[in-house]
Amino acid sequence: MTIQKDAVEILLAELEAFGIANDALHTERGQRMLNITRDTGELLAVLVQARSARRILEIGTSNGYSTLWLARAVQALQGAVVTVERAQDKFDMAQANFARACLQDVIEQRLADAGQVLQDSRDGAHDFIFLDSARSQYGAWWPQLDRALADGGVLVVDNATSHYAEMADFIDGIRGDARYTSCLVPVGKGEFIAVKSA
Ligand SMILES: C[S@@+](CC[C@H](N)C(=O)[O-])C[C@H]1O[C@@H](n2cnc3c(N)ncnc32)[C@H](O)[C@@H]1O
Repeated sequence: MTIQKDAVEILLAELEAFGIANDALHTERGQRMLNITRDTGELLAVLVQARSARRILEIGTSNGYSTLWLARAVQALQGAVVTVERAQDKFDMAQANFARACLQDVIEQRLADAGQVLQDSRDGAHDFIFLDSARSQYGAWWPQLDRALADGGVLVVDNATSHYAEMADFIDGIRGDARYTSCLVPVGKGEFIAVKSA
């Protein structure tokens, strides 16, 4: 039996190879793709489907690898992803990838600082937030993240094991917040998952 790979699957595999080769070549952060791992993408897709999340916010687009996982999952639910990136070159790379995947109708790209986007977000605007960006800012962003996350919403934070020390206060603060149920999942670089009570 021949199994046909869809266009998104082919693009994901291509981006994985590109990300590994590119990031091995460059040490400067701005030139690296810093993509999530494939199993993290699978986890995100499962969580989006399990939560029936239709209003997704991603902070940290890079070239759009993780966005593709979110977009493909949310497409089946007739939802959409807003993804935020402040670097023009990454924004442009992601835009080309979204067009190639024919997922541009499901994805709204914002070329902006995430702090400003969060500031401008309506209360409870998102039922799923994926945080993969400037880790040193997470603590300062928390009041807005908390406000923008809907009741019953899911927050996923990447690098929670690989860079735990950089966000320990942020993670421990959520762990201590009675409104949130959370866990640290040993997938990829460590995914901290917190669900806000409904
Ligand atoms: C780890 S990469 C994102 C990788 C992406 N989620 C993926 O897995 O394919 C982090 C991205 O966040 C962007 N970024 C950093 N600080 C930001 C900020 N304050 N606002 C918006 N984007 C920011 C960086 O330019 C970088 O492209």
